[in-house]
Amino acid sequence: MTASTDVRRLRIHVLRYNPAEPEKAARIQTYELDEAEGMTLFIVLSELREKHDPSLQFDFVCRAGVCGSCGMVVNGQPGLACRTLTAELPADITLAPLPTFELIGDLSVNTGKWMREMTERLEAWVHAKQQEVDLRRHEEHMDPDLADEVYELDRCIECGCCVAACGTAHMRTDFVGAVGLNKVARFSLDPRDGRTDADMYELVGNDDGVFGCMSLLACNDLCPKELPLQSQIAYLRRRMAKQA
Ligand code: SF4
Ligand code: F3S
Ligand code: FES
Repeated sequence: MTASTDVRRLRIHVLRYNPAEPEKAARIQTYELDEAEGMTLFIVLSELREKHDPSLQFDFVCRAGVCGSCGMVVNGQPGLACRTLTAELPADITLAPLPTFELIGDLSVNTGKWMREMTERLEAWVHAKQQEVDLRRHEEHMDPDLADEVYELDRCIECGCCVAACGTAHMRTDFVGAVGLNKVARFSLDPRDGRTDADMYELVGNDDGVFGCMSLLACNDLCPKELPLQSQIAYLRRRMAKQA
């Protein structure tokens, strides 16, 4: 049996810049390696760092599309590197850090800081109704269909791809992005949350919130968890418009 000779040679072009070394200008660095079966960009970057360049910066934790830490721009589109197979890409692959977020270095960005600030601004946690604070009472039963709907929106992994893909977020640094609007929609659905639409309007009834969204829909198209962002933003906009 003869070995297969049609292994692709991949050329990985990485945007390199380290803010801690401002004297070194940003540059594209190209690496080459042979493609392997089932290869993801996580495997590519790990191999490059191990065998070619230990200084290459990027983030991975779970390698399974769960932690949200490996978002980057792959050939112009935000996505999760650990879930992106090289087989789905051309042999030339360009990688850049997610825009909008603070750059740590090369492909590593501080999405955590952005998400924390957004979460605090939107108070994105259940504001329990008074009677549920009383631990002697049982929690209200939630309709299973509604629980499914809430669970669906809770699948957000805060990867930042929707923010990086959004033209509004690039222009307005305080825009809460689809991730923030999804959170508000999620808590406004939750029957355990005592906040009214008027309370939600205080949070997102403005140009940094739902009225800033220009329906560009890249968030919906590129969310790696395929959350129904388009319908949630439209739903929230309708509810908030009634409060205006
Ligand atoms: Fe990522 Fe989707 Fe959540 Fe945006 S809504 S942060 S793209 S999982
Ligand atoms: Fe941005 Fe999505 Fe609205 S891409 S403009 S948040 S529909
Ligand atoms: Fe966790 Fe990619 S490494 S989502």
